[in-house]
Amino acid sequence: MSLGSKSSLMTAEAMKKCFDTVDAIDLKNVEVSLGSKGLSILYDGKSLQKYDCIYAKGSFRYAPLLMSITTAFYNNTYMPIKPNTFTIGHDKLLTHLALQYYKVPMPNTYVVSTIDAAKKILEQVKYPIILKFPQGTQGKGVMFADSFAAASSMLDAIETLKQPFLIQEYIETEGSDIRAIVVGDKVIAAMKRKAAGEEKRANIHAGGKGEPIVLDAHTRKIAVNTARSIGAEICAVDILETAKGPAVIEANISPGLQGITATTKIDVADKIAKYLYEKTKEFSEKGKKTETSKMFTDLGVGAAGKDEEQQIVTNLDFRSERILLPKIISNITKFDEEEDVVIKARKGKVSLEKY
Ligand SMILES: Nc1ncnc2c1ncn2[C@@H]1O[C@H](COP(=O)(O)OP(=O)(O)O)[C@@H](O)[C@H]1O
Ligand SMILES: [Mg+2]
Repeated sequence: MSLGSKSSLMTAEAMKKCFDTVDAIDLKNVEVSLGSKGLSILYDGKSLQKYDCIYAKGSFRYAPLLMSITTAFYNNTYMPIKPNTFTIGHDKLLTHLALQYYKVPMPNTYVVSTIDAAKKILEQVKYPIILKFPQGTQGKGVMFADSFAAASSMLDAIETLKQPFLIQEYIETEGSDIRAIVVGDKVIAAMKRKAAGEEKRANIHAGGKGEPIVLDAHTRKIAVNTARSIGAEICAVDILETAKGPAVIEANISPGLQGITATTKIDVADKIAKYLYEKTKEFSEKGKKTETSKMFTDLGVGAAGKDEEQQIVTNLDFRSERILLPKIISNITKFDEEEDVVIKARKGKVSLEKY
C-alpha cells in the first residue's frame, strides 16, 4: 500500500514471486471511516478486503491515514510497521526522542518553540550548525549555517513559514554519510554517500554519489537498534561517522530503493519480499497454533489415561517477562499451591516435577 513510487512497485513485483496474490494499493484511493459503525477502511469506495500481509508506506502527509489503516488491521494481518511508527518515523523530533529513549547515539539536538529561544541557543553553539524541519525528506528540509549571522537570517525566514524546526550539532564528515537498509534484525545493504561538490547533504536526490560498504558490527547494531526504537521492521537508517563513533540522524520508513540497489547490486526489493513472506507465514501459523491449543483446551485434552504424559502444542503466554502456563496444566498435573516443585530449565526446555 503506497503512493506508487518506483521503489514501491519494485517491492510489489518482488512480492509477486513469493506470495500467491499481491495487490498494489494506491494510498490516495484509501479512505478511513470512524464512528458508531466502527473503524472501516474503504478502497475505491468499497470495504478493503482482508490480507495476510500489508506493507504500508507513504509520506508524512499520509501518516494519519497509514496509522488508521494499520490500526484497523493490526490484530489479523502481518504488518512490518506498527501504527505508531508512522507518526514517529515521519517526524525527526519524535524519531530522536525514541532514539534517546533506547540510547541510540545521535548528534546533539535542540528543540525550541520560539525564534527568540532559538536565537539564544544560536548565540551559544559552535558553528557550523544544522537547522532542520522535522518532516523534511531528500535533504530538502536541512539547512547549513556557518555563522550566527547566517543562522539568524535563516530563522527569520523560518518564522514566516510557522513551521517547527530542530537545531542540530553539525558533524564534519566532508559531506558523507552512511545509509543502511535494515530488514528484521539485519542490515541487508549499506552504502556510503558523498555529497556533490560544496554541498553538505549526502542525499542521492541532492546529487550525492553512493559506494557500497560493509558495516562493522557496532554500526550494524546501531542501525538495527534504530529500527527497533521506532518500531519498524523495515527501514533505512542514515548515520554520520563522528570521532566518537556512529551517530544516527534519520530513520526512513519509506526509503527509496533504486539508489541503494544500483550502488550495492543487492536486490533489496527481493530481500524485503522474502522477509515479508517468511514473517507472514510465521504470523498466520502462530494464529493457527493459538486456535489449535484453544481447541485442545475446549476438548479437555485431559481425556487420556490418568497417569499418561500428555502433550499440548501451543505458544507461550507471557505476563511481562514471566511464563504463564495454560490452565489445563494445573488440571493435568494436579499441583497445588502449597506443594514444592523442582523446576529444571535450559535453553529451549523446561520441566516441572513434584519435589
Ligand atoms: N547534524 C548533521 N551534521 C552534518 N551533516 C548532516 C547533519 N544532519 C544532516 N546532515 C546531512 O544532510 C543530509 C540530510 O539529512 P537527514 O537528516 O537525513 O534528512 P533527510 O530526511 O532530508 O534525508 C544527510 O544525509 C547528511 O549528509
Ligand atoms: Mg536522510
